[in-house]
Amino acid sequence: MPGRSDGVPCDIYIPHQKSKTLESTAATEKTPSTRRKSILKSATSRLAEGTPRRSIHLSNIVEQRVFQDDEIISTPKRGRSKKTVQDDDEDYSPKKSVQKTPTRTRRSSTTTKTATTPSKGITTATATPMTPSQKMKKIRAGELSPSMQQRTDLPAKDSSKSELQLAREQLHVSVVPKSLPCREREFENIYAFLEGKIQDQCGGCMYVSGVPGTGKTATVTGVIRTLQRLAKQNELPAFEYLEINGMRLTEPRQAYVQIYKQLTGKTVSWEQAHALLEKRFTTPAPRRVTTVLLVDELDILCNRRQDVVYNLLDWPTKSAAKLVVVTIANTMDLPERLLMGKVTSRLGLTRLTFQPYSHKQLQEIVTARLGGSEAFKGEAVQLVARKVAAVSGDARRALDICRRATEIADTAAVKCVTMLHVQQALAEMIASAKVQAIRNCSRMEQIFLQAVAAEVTRTGVEETTFMGVYQQVETIAAFMGVTFPPPGRALRLCSKLGAERLIISEHSRNDLFQKILLNVSADDIHYALRVAEMVN
Ligand SMILES: Nc1ncnc2c1ncn2[C@@H]1O[C@H](COP(=O)(O)OP(=O)(O)O)[C@@H](O)[C@H]1O
Ligand SMILES: [Mg+2]
Repeated sequence: MPGRSDGVPCDIYIPHQKSKTLESTAATEKTPSTRRKSILKSATSRLAEGTPRRSIHLSNIVEQRVFQDDEIISTPKRGRSKKTVQDDDEDYSPKKSVQKTPTRTRRSSTTTKTATTPSKGITTATATPMTPSQKMKKIRAGELSPSMQQRTDLPAKDSSKSELQLAREQLHVSVVPKSLPCREREFENIYAFLEGKIQDQCGGCMYVSGVPGTGKTATVTGVIRTLQRLAKQNELPAFEYLEINGMRLTEPRQAYVQIYKQLTGKTVSWEQAHALLEKRFTTPAPRRVTTVLLVDELDILCNRRQDVVYNLLDWPTKSAAKLVVVTIANTMDLPERLLMGKVTSRLGLTRLTFQPYSHKQLQEIVTARLGGSEAFKGEAVQLVARKVAAVSGDARRALDICRRATEIADTAAVKCVTMLHVQQALAEMIASAKVQAIRNCSRMEQIFLQAVAAEVTRTGVEETTFMGVYQQVETIAAFMGVTFPPPGRALRLCSKLGAERLIISEHSRNDLFQKILLNVSADDIHYALRVAEMVN
């Protein structure tokens, strides 16, 4: 496909299996319009865009800008129109020229270059020069498994910006790179699962877990984008994609409303949505395409109404549903604790756990983001990676510290971030108000806070009860070899921490059954208690 000279808008970077049929101009001209139609019809686009027809252009512009500015994708966009998906592929383009239409740039890049491999512009050493079509052939033949490695793409340097500025932009967490280093195995796992389900047109459920900042959301959405691209190219049966996020729902049952809205574009009450979804997923409809539903931040949905989570995990087991659900949560054993063991085994969840990043991995992630930039000394990156890996293995945190270090270097009017700047960024983090407050707590109060964090991790639910926390206090105190406080004293600790706003407790009751919420991030607690050691 690359190197078409007929001027037909086509996506050179997307490999075509049926390239012969597409050679005919008529055929190609027809495809875009049909595709556009189907996208206009798709519920997901409606959801993302409100009134579909008019706003499609708007959304294109917005997304195109994102890609032009940084050649990155921030968050996966729902309801992409055909054009925007093409823009996705645009990311392969090694050029950073202004792109009026994606195709135009592509054509120019193909005419000026004989080797049309996307990897031409890739600066990482890992990229192999292989055209996407070659690669796809290999993937199909099973010689190669789909990986994100070769999709690495870094923006061409903008001469008006300093190295430090560019580095800072690249390090922003909202900038999700095309390829996620160190998550190739996970990518392939999820890819194989979803592709299999879509090919076989059957339902299933995958449970992805791991602590925050381990790239779960980024990996899953990366897989889905790849699959959407393949479906668009008729390399894969069409499927419908919906996503909900526990964090963004005011109430668990809103999940039904959101799902129904994405499917049909209609907003109904949760009762109606529930009934209609139940009907949809239990009534056979032979011509219906597979629905892929991503439920991110499942933990938060589990707050009180477990029936919602139950339904979300149960619907895929109905053969009529043709529903594939991918759930993402922070805790590994959430389904077991939430639903009864027997139920979970019947649900037949496919599981995948994302381990926290090691310091080597964090180093690789940051280095890949910097893309050969001179703005960072190697040892500075290494220091951040080591410090963060020692505490949480959270890529987000590592990127934040690096970004802050670039700012400090900027203020100091130097061109390169050194160990010194990183040290300073780490020290500042301890100086943050919340972290300071935690550091100023008594040892027992700190243990209590740790206990709340541990209880949140254990249950996967943000709201804890005093009883649960108290058990954790006992464990932690025993582990540390300190005498654990009797419940009365622990209750006093609890109200003191509440007064300091480090936790939110129920004022009205000061008993064993009161509910407790952490008002600082678990990370802050880790850092408050450990960064002191890290800096010194
Ligand atoms: N392997 C990786 N390579 C590059 N960046 C990563 C990687 N893993 C995580 N990140 C960065 O960390 C951020 C958080 O990742 P995310 O997928 O949201 O984590 P999770 O969903 O596990 O909490 C992402 O926005 C991305 O910028
Ligand atoms: Mg996430």
